[in-house]
Amino acid sequence: MDYSRSAMSLTPSVTLQLSAKARELSRAGRDIISLSAGQPDFSTPIPIAEAGIDAIREGKTGYTASTGIPELKEAIAEQYSRRRNLHWLPSNVLVGCGAKHNLANLVRAAINPGDKVLLPRPFWVSYPEMVKASGGIPIFPEECLNGSEIRKAAGEGAVGVFLNFPSNPTGFVPSISFMREIADAIAETDMWIISDDIYEDLAYIDSGVPHILDFHPFLQERTAVVSGVSKTYAMTGWRIGYSLACSEWTRLAGFLQAHSTSNPCSISQWAALAAVEGKATREKEEMHRSFHMRRDLICELLAGVDGLEFKKPDGAFYVFPRLLTDPQNVNTNRFCSELLFDAGVAVIPGSAFGAEGYIRISFAASADDIRRGIHRLREFLHRRLNT
Ligand SMILES: Cc1ncc(COP(=O)(O)O)c(C=O)c1O
Repeated sequence: MDYSRSAMSLTPSVTLQLSAKARELSRAGRDIISLSAGQPDFSTPIPIAEAGIDAIREGKTGYTASTGIPELKEAIAEQYSRRRNLHWLPSNVLVGCGAKHNLANLVRAAINPGDKVLLPRPFWVSYPEMVKASGGIPIFPEECLNGSEIRKAAGEGAVGVFLNFPSNPTGFVPSISFMREIADAIAETDMWIISDDIYEDLAYIDSGVPHILDFHPFLQERTAVVSGVSKTYAMTGWRIGYSLACSEWTRLAGFLQAHSTSNPCSISQWAALAAVEGKATREKEEMHRSFHMRRDLICELLAGVDGLEFKKPDGAFYVFPRLLTDPQNVNTNRFCSELLFDAGVAVIPGSAFGAEGYIRISFAASADDIRRGIHRLREFLHRRLNT
């Protein structure tokens, strides 16, 4: 049988693979500390869970409109219109089975075979695969994304660009002047923009997260804002994400959804509505405070580790240190496997994010696990530096 060339060009998700390996070792009785998770280690807040239970009790368990229940779309349109000081209608909203699903459908709706799409580096693992799965060609800036890289990519024919702030894997939040530079450069081109804002509520700086639409509101026409409840409300397993885009882009992405998954889980949509309507604001703030404290803790501990350097992340729940052990020849896949097997600590290799030489450490873990995990990493690096 001849399989699809685009399907065969995909690489498996290293993050999911590594987390699975760590779980397997732990099931086999090894004491494994996982600092690899891309999800909050909290339970979904009770008021949200109860809204889901109510939905089951009330029999809200049939198919819904394939693009989402009107109540949720209205709440999302209203909340984001207020948040960004712009105007979106429910017809601009698509509710998907997680932000990943929205991203995949939006990409498929925007790309024709051979289209080039500019991806930031380091990038979230799924972006290049989504572009390739749709027949597109991911292209990358030489270093980090900046104004001249955007102009250069447009000159090479790029039709779209991904933005992701706070970033997975770096936790980077742009300054206002940096975001202005990006926004100005994109505004000079015809590129569409996917702004993956899934970590928008997890920032640890008072000034907040600047957004491309703050600078050039006319870009709303060709920007898809993607977010969801997974990270902010500890709802990764409920699988609800959403996007806001122009009605045509939304309509086409909605067709793809209608002919593949149909509606996202009805029960989860009612639970997500409770989240979007602010029924768990107190719990959300508590989780945020806890992530903030853990960010400070992990940075303090990492500062005492020889053999790596890092920038303090201003958002998300990741630190992305560069390994200094063998800078010319570091293979982070091998490094992370050895760290897992020898020291029992799971972290993700930077190669998965297009940044060989770095590792992604998640602080979505208890303070105790963070302390023990960084201690083991320190000892492991110490042994490597001294052999
Ligand atoms: C940058 C980024 N975008 C999107 C997603 C997907 O979120 P969801 O679980 O809602 O599909 C993730 C999850 O790890 C992510 O890190």
